[in-house]
Amino acid sequence: MAQEDVFKKIVAHCKEYGFVFPSSDIYDGLAAVYDYGQNGVELKNNIKQYWWQSMVLLHDNIVGIDSAIFMHPTIWKASGHVDAFNDPLIDNRDSKKRYRADVLIEDEIAKYDDKIEKEVAKAAKRFKENFDEAKYRATSPKVLELQEKRDALHTRYSAAMNAMDLNELRQIILDEEIVCPISGTRNWTEVRQFNLMFSTEMGSTADGAMKVYLRPETAQGIFVNYLNVQKTGRMKVPFGIAQIGKAFRNEIVARQFIFRMREFEQMEMQFFVRPGTEMEWFSKWKETRMKWHQALGFGADHYRFHDHEKLAHYANAATDVEFLMPFGFKEVEGIHSRTNFDLSQHEKYSGKSIKYFDPETNESYTPYVIETSIGVDRMFLSVMSAAYTEEQLENGETRVVLKLPAALAPVKLAVLPLVKKDGLPEKAREIVNDLKFHFNTIYDEKDSIGKRYRRQDAVGTPYCVTVDHDTLNDNCVTLRNRDTMQQERVAISELNSIIADRVSITSLLKKLQ
Ligand code: GAP
Repeated sequence: MAQEDVFKKIVAHCKEYGFVFPSSDIYDGLAAVYDYGQNGVELKNNIKQYWWQSMVLLHDNIVGIDSAIFMHPTIWKASGHVDAFNDPLIDNRDSKKRYRADVLIEDEIAKYDDKIEKEVAKAAKRFKENFDEAKYRATSPKVLELQEKRDALHTRYSAAMNAMDLNELRQIILDEEIVCPISGTRNWTEVRQFNLMFSTEMGSTADGAMKVYLRPETAQGIFVNYLNVQKTGRMKVPFGIAQIGKAFRNEIVARQFIFRMREFEQMEMQFFVRPGTEMEWFSKWKETRMKWHQALGFGADHYRFHDHEKLAHYANAATDVEFLMPFGFKEVEGIHSRTNFDLSQHEKYSGKSIKYFDPETNESYTPYVIETSIGVDRMFLSVMSAAYTEEQLENGETRVVLKLPAALAPVKLAVLPLVKKDGLPEKAREIVNDLKFHFNTIYDEKDSIGKRYRRQDAVGTPYCVTVDHDTLNDNCVTLRNRDTMQQERVAISELNSIIADRVSITSLLKKLQ
């Protein structure tokens, strides 16, 4: 199945099974804003718990905070967001549609890549087992020509972006003859800078309202609380502050479902270190974060690092953790060495000293920062993409199963009475009432047992138990495993000990040690 179709199926599945709905659905939605449904919120909460516990419980030098979304507007001046948190935008005069100039060009580069891959695939088909891919790529005149054009465009584009040369970006769009996908014309406006922050007013106009921003990242809430936490927690460098919370960006081009949203959630951790040790910590955090991702068991081939060529002016190293989504490898998390830029800026703009006196070296300094920043929604999408499976069964039927890591699954156990009579529902409810204190357990009696299994497979429930007539005599149930579909007879009294460990967040955390 084409990856595009897989992605469409995942989006449809998310809606059909109560994971993700378009926001304001009965009003036909609101662009790039989504709501999480009854299963989505459970999965999302489990992802957040996994992250939070891996940071705050597993590290005795990391603590958490929860700062407000509204912050003093000067914070965004100090951080550089008022002046530099921009995307280059361009309008098509005929369709009146707005685009990100950089995205139009990147899409053009991707088209060259696609063409090259198609050439290679065609040749592989033609030459079959005699095909030497590396040699073909190095010698095929067609591939070499495409590669040369692609590289020239990439070089020109990188230079324009590094210099933020808006005229050059427009010129590239014209030279490459890029057309508006809606109007099909090349009637482009100038390229302009567009600030991504949402703003609103705080206070009544009579008193002089103040323009405030909806935070575009949670990180600044951590920086401006650095002193509070360091002093009240008597924290010693190196130490970290973690936070999970909403962030808002007025993205020009919001697409790919929950991949790029206007309201989203971040899990960020700022790790404060002694200047000069930041590269060592940067490597450590790269390794730690990759381990966290891979502990989910989707396979190492689903992840890769993408080191940034172009660094933000305040960073001295940066990498992305990319995940293999149905639309290719995409950034899920950023790991950045941000020097002492943010703390120094806040020191300058607030006029308060943010120096740390290091008792080990008898020196005062502004700590350097390693940041790990991951989007909850992108993480959610990566988990859904890897978990969504269509399986052909021996009887010719197909089943859709979400192979979610058990610790992240919204529901851990479904208890199903074989029939709705003969005391089986009462027995099943007894089991639910006992186990619901330990993990998310639900009761389901509607439809045939086969249909109920399929329903649980579709939301990723790792275990189902069936209560049948024998249960009333032997106090045993049939326990079904979602992935293997194997069934075993177990005592009701054993259920907690069999299931609890396997579905707990602790089972994941133990893999990180
Ligand atoms: N404090 C650093 C920071 O915000 P970023 O690379 O802009 O860095 C970090 O964002 C992460 O936040 C990204 O890796 C991504 O997972 C998530 N993210 C950023 N913009 C997003 C958007 N519009 N929609 C969903 N997630 C987004």
